[in-house]
Amino acid sequence: MNQKNTALTAERAIKPRRLPRYTSYPTALEFDALESNIYDLWLKQLPKDEAVSLYFHIPYCEKLCWFCGCFMAVSHKYGPVENFVDVLIKEVRQKAAKTGRLKVSHIHFGGGSPSILKPDDFKRLIDVVNDCFDLDNVDEFAVEIDPRTVDQLKIMSYAKAGVNRASLGIQDFNLKTQQTINRIQSLELIEETMANFKKAGIERINFDLIYGLPYQTLDTIKDTINKTLGFRPSRIALFGYAHVPHMKKHQQLIANHSLPDQHQRQAQFDLAREILQENGYKSIGLDHFALGDDPLITTYDQGKLRRNFQGYTKDTSDTLIGFGPSAISSMPGGYGQNIADIKLYLQKINSAHSPAARGLSLTDQDKMFREIISTLMCYFEVDPDKILKAHHIEYDFTEQFIALNKLIDARYMKKEGSLYKITKEGRPYLRAIATIFDQYFDQSSDIIDRCIHESEG
Ligand SMILES: C[S@@+](CC[C@H](N)C(=O)[O-])C[C@H]1O[C@@H](n2cnc3c(N)ncnc32)[C@H](O)[C@@H]1O
Ligand code: SF4
Repeated sequence: MNQKNTALTAERAIKPRRLPRYTSYPTALEFDALESNIYDLWLKQLPKDEAVSLYFHIPYCEKLCWFCGCFMAVSHKYGPVENFVDVLIKEVRQKAAKTGRLKVSHIHFGGGSPSILKPDDFKRLIDVVNDCFDLDNVDEFAVEIDPRTVDQLKIMSYAKAGVNRASLGIQDFNLKTQQTINRIQSLELIEETMANFKKAGIERINFDLIYGLPYQTLDTIKDTINKTLGFRPSRIALFGYAHVPHMKKHQQLIANHSLPDQHQRQAQFDLAREILQENGYKSIGLDHFALGDDPLITTYDQGKLRRNFQGYTKDTSDTLIGFGPSAISSMPGGYGQNIADIKLYLQKINSAHSPAARGLSLTDQDKMFREIISTLMCYFEVDPDKILKAHHIEYDFTEQFIALNKLIDARYMKKEGSLYKITKEGRPYLRAIATIFDQYFDQSSDIIDRCIHESEG
């Protein structure tokens, strides 16, 4: 790791930008070149008796959704996907050779569309993972599903492999919106997919929905939520559409005039939340909803909810090992991200080189601020002094307290003892409020301006 990366905040580039979603802290924007020997050392130093989580990034999709903000590539043929699985298997073996056969508590397949994998390829990958890691006590094994790519056979193969949670990309049920985002999938397809998951015994289902998409109105949102309620998924993620055409060129295919404005977006989210809550869903964090029997609720009630790259999670493991292009590993020593370019990723693994390209060593101060931000993002409240004490380090929060007091004056926050709580009025500004504790975020703008004017996209 170069000098710039190990030095503290002053060294690190400070620039204005969109508000982070804080799926990690420091965010991936702060990652710098990472030497592979540092990453390998972190892998080798992982405690042998602690369970880890595994993340597999399958970057391929059959078709491009124009709203997509994920790291993915379209492959019209299956050949490259099959070849990719061969290489992913090599990466599993390479990493396990460094870590030893660690126990695993959580497995997550994300993408792209992991459901593009044929059952045989999924099975041979899981067989190798099982060989290299101890999967005897996996608590949650989740796969992200594009409903257009699964059938009964595939879903049965997930159950056989031990998958116990499926996350379905639904987005929106309105046909005009579906046409405008190039993502057409009928209600019947979702009915069939849900029936297949039920038959396979996979009952923990998440729906991904999005608000702020083209041509969505309060009426269409209401209809989408009502149709969703017909399926009663145990969990729902309701994301705000992130329109970043300068970064994701294909989003230019979505005309600006078709998009709801910030005020309409907020109204859409508020309406969806209201209907979901009226129907028994508990609101969790920024954008998740869950029914009482979903483990996310118990985790939340126990004060153990965490935020990771996949969003809100009950996974409390200190280590997440990422496989596949762009996958991020989070280890006690720091973050390491695999090279994102698929071709370069394949080359690196095939030539037995580490795929880790970027990352960041974590300082004690980073870890303290990470816990503060994660607590805020999960619970809308935080006691900075309590967390500071638990980390046994010194820090003067004067600047942060000045900003928090401005939020109290604006009624976006209130203080109870040393606990700062975000009020109902302040909830829409969660991400802006969290920036107060982000040591890499440009703090020159006034916090109230930041709440009102900075992009949530
Ligand atoms: C990797 S995809 C899920 C699996 C599968 N590829 C699919 O689309 O069904 C993860 C989720 O990210 C969300 N997503 C993708 N692009 C987004 C964007 N620009 N803004 C907000 N959410 C987005 C969608 O809800 C999507 O279901
Ligand atoms: S939203 Fe999902 S299916 Fe659509 S392009 Fe993105 S990753 Fe692929």
